[in-house]
Formats: sequence, C-alpha cells, structure tokens
Amino acid sequence: MNNFDRHRRLRTTATMRDLMRETVVTKNDLIAPVFVEEGLNGSTPISSMPGVSHFGLDSILNEVQEIVDAGIKSIILFGLPKDENKDDIGTGAWSDDGIVQQATRKIKNKFPNLIIIADCCMCEYTSTGHCGIVKEGYVDNDESLKYIARTAVSQAKAGADIIAPSNAMDGYVTAIRFALDQANLVNIPIMSYAVKYASSFYGPFREAANSAPKFGDRKSYQMDPANRLESIREAVSDQKEGADFVMVKPSMAFLDVMREIKDQVNLPMVAYNVSGEYAMIKAAAANGWIDEQSVVYETLTGMKRAGADLIITYFAKDYAKYLDQQG
Ligand code: PBG
Ligand code: ZN
Repeated sequence: MNNFDRHRRLRTTATMRDLMRETVVTKNDLIAPVFVEEGLNGSTPISSMPGVSHFGLDSILNEVQEIVDAGIKSIILFGLPKDENKDDIGTGAWSDDGIVQQATRKIKNKFPNLIIIADCCMCEYTSTGHCGIVKEGYVDNDESLKYIARTAVSQAKAGADIIAPSNAMDGYVTAIRFALDQANLVNIPIMSYAVKYASSFYGPFREAANSAPKFGDRKSYQMDPANRLESIREAVSDQKEGADFVMVKPSMAFLDVMREIKDQVNLPMVAYNVSGEYAMIKAAAANGWIDEQSVVYETLTGMKRAGADLIITYFAKDYAKYLDQQG
C-alpha cells in the first residue's frame, strides 16, 4: 500500500501551497507599454485592445502616473507620428522633436526614477510601413542600420534609459552600441528584440500603431515561427555584439524557445506578451468564457517559469492591482 509517492501532502492547505510555490511574478518583473500619439489631445481607446489607449502629449503624464502609482517601475514607449510626417527614411523616428523624444523628455522630467525603454524601430515612421529603408522593393539591411543607430542616439539623448531595437536587421546591436558609445552614452543598455518571429499575433498592435507594411510582409527580417535552432543563432549573435538583454516575442506560442534561450544565452531574458495574446484573453473574458484574473496569472507565471526575467505586458497595470488585492 505504501509503494507510491503522496504528492498531495504538499498541497493540503493554502499556506502549504504558498510554501511550495516555485515561481512568483512580482511588480519588478513587469514592463508596461505606452502609446503616445503626435497631435492628439487627450486619449483614444484602441478598440482591439480593451483597456489600452493612445495618449497625446497633454495626457501622457496621467497614464504614466497611474502606472507608477500601481507600483510598476518601467515603461516601453511607442510613438505614432502624424500621417503627413511619415517619409521614406522615417525622419520622425530619429529627429530630436520626434514624438517619442518629446514624450521621453516630458516623462523623465516628472518621473526621474521610472525606467523608460524606447522601442527603437522605423515602421511607425516610414511611408512604406517597413521597419527599415526600402530599396528596390527590399528592406536594405546596412542602409537601415544607419537610421536605427541614429534613432537610438536621439532617444537616449532625450532621456531614454534603455534602447530596445525591434527592427530586426542583422548587426543592429553592433551599429547601435557603436553609435551610443561614440555619443558618450556608454551606460545605456540595449534590450534586443533578438528572437522576433514574423507573427500574426502582432495584428492589434499594427492596427493601433498604424504600422502595417504597405506592401509585402516582414518575413525576410523577422523569423519563421517553425524554427528553434535559428532562435539560438539570433540570440547568440546579439550577445556577441554586446546586447544587454535578449527578448523573445511573441510569448504564449514560444515558451519552449524561451526556455532554450534562457539555457543557452547567459543574459537577462525578456518575454513580450504581445497585442494579439492580450486581445484573445480580453475577448474570451468579456464573453464570460474564462476568468480573466486567473488566466492572466497563469499566463505571466508560465513565461517566468519558462525563464523570463522580465515581461512586457499590456496587463502590467491590472496585474499590479491583483497583487495589491492579495495583500
Ligand atoms: C515594431 C513592433 C511591433 C511590435 C512591437 N514593435 C510590430 C511588428 O513588428 O510588426 C509588436 C507588439 C505587439 O504586438 O504587442 N517593430
Ligand atoms: Zn518595426
């Protein structure tokens, strides 16, 4: 009768389960995305992402105040320029009065201790909607590096604490590190979107950021979702180039990849819980089909269990509030 293990002994009470819990997501682990839109007064909700809005420069500090009050210590900023300010070379991404640069100065001034991460890409700013510079219908890698490096320097000069390049060009970490160092910005870390899959889970974001490609797709610079070994090559080369963090994106369908990267690459790893993942949970919860709070808990805990040190998530504010309710 005694020749089996009694696992249930360690689950008998809530207190016992608290003692046995292996993985805990804390407020320190979460990064909240914030969208700032040029020329907007006030805010507009994003229909495919209930609870998330665009903010104008006049209202952005209210949103950041809420995030700070919830106990979240870091935000990642995305900018939406006016349509008429988009061009072939994404000028709005790297000009000193670009929308992200303006917002960064404003936020840093009011919240000096908040960590501001600047998403460093061009797709919101180019007339093509591509993440780099298009030449003869193809996104030109090395030409794009010049502009992504310029973008990084202008974001850091505006007060960004961390640069997060997401344009997925080869060699962008080298190009950005070199440019930052040249500008004496040696202490600005690079959070590379190292393992970025070409994913349909970005749908709501592209709609929200008005950043979908005008022709073609991103499959020549973002990864094939079927590939695992390639994710290791991508992360290892960014590590060699001097990245301070590596990111895996999206999250929910790529937890195996996270574990792989965590085990193979000795750098802090960031999971990006993307817009489509957020939208699915919100939609099912709104229909009463799932319990939002416990599904969010399992989702974020699963990412941390898979090896994520930090999680970028649209649920950051909500999750911080759940933690407060638990006391
Ligand atoms: C821009 C960028 C994207 C996301 C973050 N930065 C979209 C894309 O690559 O098309 C996606 C974020 C999300 O879906 O939440 N390069
Ligand atoms: Zn992009």
